[in-house]
Amino acid sequence: MTADSSTEKPWGGRFTESTDAFVEEFTASIGFDQRLYRHDITGSIAHARMLSHVGIITESECNQMVDGLEDILADIERGDFAWSVALEDIHMNIESRLIDRIGETGKKLHTGRSRNDQVATDLRLYLRAEIDTLCSEIDRLQTALADLAEQEADTILPGFTHLQVAMPVSFGHHLLAWAEMLERDHARLRDCRKRVNVMPLGAAALAGTGFPIDRAYTAQLLGFECPAANSLDAVSDRDFAIEFCSAAALVMVHLSRFSEELILWSSAQFNFIELPDSFCTGSSIMPQKKNPDVPELVRGKSGRVTGHLVGLLTLMKGQPLAYNKDNQEDKEPLFDTVDTLKGSLRVFADMVPAITVHRDVMAAAAHQGFSTATDLADYLVRKGITFRDAHEIVGRAVLHGVETGKDLAEMPLEELRGFSDVIDAGVFEVLTLEGSVAARNHTGGTAPAQVRSAIKSVRARLDGRKT
Ligand code: ARG
Repeated sequence: MTADSSTEKPWGGRFTESTDAFVEEFTASIGFDQRLYRHDITGSIAHARMLSHVGIITESECNQMVDGLEDILADIERGDFAWSVALEDIHMNIESRLIDRIGETGKKLHTGRSRNDQVATDLRLYLRAEIDTLCSEIDRLQTALADLAEQEADTILPGFTHLQVAMPVSFGHHLLAWAEMLERDHARLRDCRKRVNVMPLGAAALAGTGFPIDRAYTAQLLGFECPAANSLDAVSDRDFAIEFCSAAALVMVHLSRFSEELILWSSAQFNFIELPDSFCTGSSIMPQKKNPDVPELVRGKSGRVTGHLVGLLTLMKGQPLAYNKDNQEDKEPLFDTVDTLKGSLRVFADMVPAITVHRDVMAAAAHQGFSTATDLADYLVRKGITFRDAHEIVGRAVLHGVETGKDLAEMPLEELRGFSDVIDAGVFEVLTLEGSVAARNHTGGTAPAQVRSAIKSVRARLDGRKT
């Protein structure tokens, strides 16, 4: 990066004094917006082609511009481009290099355009591409969850409410709960993409341009759904970025909750699963430690993504129409949101298939905590007792179990009959974990047969997205 104050500013004509050296640094965005280079060049090429299409520049001028811009792209990708702080941002860095390369013709590129519509276009092109990548990472994680769910459809663990043992559930069913949350996250990102995919170019600084431009043509070249309907709105609002950050914050909250379970389950106290060594780290002092760093970090990173959402909302709230320099502050939170989400999804999609499941520990835990108490109450209801009375009867049986250290299934028939004489030997079928889980055999229920059909639906949705 060069801090060469003598570099001529594209807007220098109106000024008599040069910019204060620190102000130059303070106002520059090139340090972070250089990552938009590819989208900036794509947008400029489309703009040049449109200018030639409507006859504002000649075809030969357009070809010079396109060749020059493509050469600049190659230079940047080769690492052969010296970014200049004096040239403020990605737009002026590239335009000025184009003028250096192709001379006078390069000075025509900015006809009918402003950095205001240019930056909004670059950001939308960037975000559209990133949303597509994020959606494929969600697909990959959902596939990993469906695969593990298939393998563990018959594995039973305690389901919790209030983190107290509630009812036995299939581990496959539990895993599919995460796949469902991710499905809605995917849908939110796809929906957000529709509003990202609208083109600001042509809005120019704020009011449009006097040149006879063809916005529909540029939009088509760039794959945008349509040009933005209002020039003031097009250059000023960043609601598409805020909406994206809101969808991203929700994905991170889901991953954070999932992380919390992985951390609990891999503790010595639960011991339901083991995370692969390759996704954990040790302690520099305690030799026995194997820490679940990956889920802990993802849980922690959900905080910064939520922070970026609040940051962008706050950035927007006081701005009068139209563009204000405040908007330059949209980039770092947006970029960090994309990077954080992409990294978190990637590491989860890689880690989930490598989880070791301790089926026997899960089953033993499900035998504790009277997880089949509701099954006993339902059994009594089927024998003609009202649910409230059945609840009371089972409550007394559980209290007896607590006092004697026995699970319901461990009490002999005569002992159980002491609580209600409608109980017969058939009761032990409903008191088994397998019986309890298999009984919940309706759409959305935890019966292994339902889990298998839910896996089919998840896979069908994933396959549908591939075509
Ligand atoms: N670097 C600026 C940004 O990120 C580009 C637009 C500058 N426009 C202006 N009128 N100063 O928003």
